Amino acid sequence: MQTKVLFTADQIAVRVNQLAAEITADIDADTRPVLVGVLKGSVTFLADLVRAMHVDPDVDFMSISAYSDGFAMSGVVKIVKDLESSLEARDVIVVEDIVDTGLTLTYLLRTLQARGPRSLKVCALINKDVRRIAETPIDYQGFETEEFLVGYGLDFKGRYRNLPYLAAVDDVATLAAHPDALNDVFWG
Ligand code: IMP
Ligand code: MG
Repeated sequence: MQTKVLFTADQIAVRVNQLAAEITADIDADTRPVLVGVLKGSVTFLADLVRAMHVDPDVDFMSISAYSDGFAMSGVVKIVKDLESSLEARDVIVVEDIVDTGLTLTYLLRTLQARGPRSLKVCALINKDVRRIAETPIDYQGFETEEFLVGYGLDFKGRYRNLPYLAAVDDVATLAAHPDALNDVFWG
């Protein structure tokens, strides 16, 4: 099993600052947007993004989980933890770690749209455009890749979220059989 650093911590920082500047420039000066972080993968990204924004948004989180295992293709998710804030008439920006098939995000956007936001946008750190099944608008995107990534919030079975960079793993089947196999690679 091979890994390689696909995006370094410095590259991520540069891109996150650019995204924050884009978002800040688009924000209506007399409203406060709500950043909706999707737990848990977006936590690292959101924490950096919000500190690079030159406005003071509300931050709220929701946690969703797929109905069957993560490989199911229905995209139907259940809300495990809902938002605390109302989205009625708010400018909402969903902050996602990664959009892969787009099924999760499609379902999530439909749910959030029903709550009457004034606007609803998506900011995703990683876009796996070639794997898309459900057409999903991404208003702000960090990087594009086809690879399976861990680090900077992204996990494999809960592991490797705390890597400060994004690493590509070439053999997810082997990793599935040995989820801790990369401990030595990443942390010696
Ligand atoms: P989808 O867009 O509905 O296929 O699902 C996206 C979700 O799959 C993400 O929120 C991640 O939890 C997971 N996922 C997809 N690709 C990756 C990856 O490369 N690394 C880690 N998790 C991933
Ligand atoms: Mg996710």
